[in-house]
Amino acid sequence: MNFDIRDASLAHAGRLRMEWADRSMPVLRQIRDRFAQEKPLRGMRIAACLHVTTETGNLMRTLVAGGAEAAVCASNPLSTQDEVAAALVKEYGIPTFAIKGEDNETYYRHVNAALEIKPTITMDDGADLVTTVFSKRTELIPNVIGGTEETTTGVIRLKSMEADHVLKYPIVAVNDAQTKHMFDNRYGTGQSTMDGIIRATNVLVAGARVVVCGYGWCGRGVAMRARGLGARVIVVEVDPIKALEAIMDGYEVLPIDEAAKVGAVFITLTGNKNVIRKEHFRVMPDGAIVCNSGHFNVEIDLDGLAKAATGPREARQFVDEWILDRKRVYILGEGRLINLAAAEGHPASVMDMSFANQSLAAEHLVKQAGKLTKAVHKLPDVIDAQVASLKLAAMGARIDELTPAQKKYLASWDEGT
Ligand SMILES: NC(=O)c1ccc[n+]([C@@H]2O[C@H](COP(=O)([O-])OP(=O)(O)OC[C@H]3O[C@@H](n4cnc5c(N)ncnc54)[C@H](O)[C@@H]3O)[C@@H](O)[C@H]2O)c1
Repeated sequence: MNFDIRDASLAHAGRLRMEWADRSMPVLRQIRDRFAQEKPLRGMRIAACLHVTTETGNLMRTLVAGGAEAAVCASNPLSTQDEVAAALVKEYGIPTFAIKGEDNETYYRHVNAALEIKPTITMDDGADLVTTVFSKRTELIPNVIGGTEETTTGVIRLKSMEADHVLKYPIVAVNDAQTKHMFDNRYGTGQSTMDGIIRATNVLVAGARVVVCGYGWCGRGVAMRARGLGARVIVVEVDPIKALEAIMDGYEVLPIDEAAKVGAVFITLTGNKNVIRKEHFRVMPDGAIVCNSGHFNVEIDLDGLAKAATGPREARQFVDEWILDRKRVYILGEGRLINLAAAEGHPASVMDMSFANQSLAAEHLVKQAGKLTKAVHKLPDVIDAQVASLKLAAMGARIDELTPAQKKYLASWDEGT
């Protein structure tokens, strides 16, 4: 079996961590048990490009339980948990290509190594696998029945491919399931981003001016958690509706030019590039902490900073100090998603739903093989509702059902005042 990991001797530690996460993944566990009986993925070869974390480890086990052959590579050079990579190889026999801190060349070598499985399904987080298949590994396309995509940025890239008529097979946008983005992006990113900032810096959040750039699902979560820790939160947006929502949620909204002058901690979660630029670094207070939790490391203009400032000097692990006009600016995790670089990513309980959706999306692709168009598809609503119901049941929560009279009322138009 081919693999490329940091240290195989970490396998036992990785297994323990995966088991710990699995305690909080009851929905995925149920799916894994069913998959083990029914083998709905028999004959499938799945190449996955995901953050190699404990939760991803449990997803890979689920796909294999379902009868698939699977290989996994990292979807970000800094997000790999080396213990998990070791456990996947040594304890579970799953080809894994991921080393925390790998350079760009190794990253793409690993993407290509995972593709050696000759996938029938691609599973992406950010669309790097699909992009590689479509541009450099086109010989693989005829084997593929479809792919899945985990994150907002990947879905945006894939929809652009669809619009440009270059999408070569159907994609299920797992991110667009409500049981994914409403929970993973909001509560998962909210908690784990603050966790990453705190682990990297030990900064006191109470009283600090925290600038949240982007008030989408992720930004809302981070703003909410920063406020919970006592921060004075400022939101930066380009969308008038989101900005209005932020104001009515009780936050101050400022353009980045103004926010840059007063912030102590800056967090980008826009999925866009160059949100914080050289001119903003210049006006930041001394000692500003700047990080990103959006998918790619393009949100902070680090090239612009490097041209204008001296550095970097490693002040602590994951903290680079730059000097600009005699002031210090601290960049966390080289501008890569801080929740995965300096912390452990989302808690398992929320990834439970995201990866339940991934597993069911793979099953959906098998059931629909040959029937889906070369477009970005939603996961069917019934799957979304099923994941929510399983999660509620696992939490011991019960809800009401419509009475027959209520069902009839909601379907009719003739009853008024
Ligand atoms: N860190 C993680 O673990 C994690 C988890 C989920 C998603 N993500 C990534 O986080 C990013 C955001 O995801 P989302 O689901 O919140 O997306 P979203 O589309 O819901 O929100 C993005 C927001 O950013 C705003 N925006 C765009 N350009 C901006 C600019 N220049 N300045 C200020 N605001 C701007 C948009 O108007 C939008 O409201 C994506 O890259 C996504 O892939 C990261």
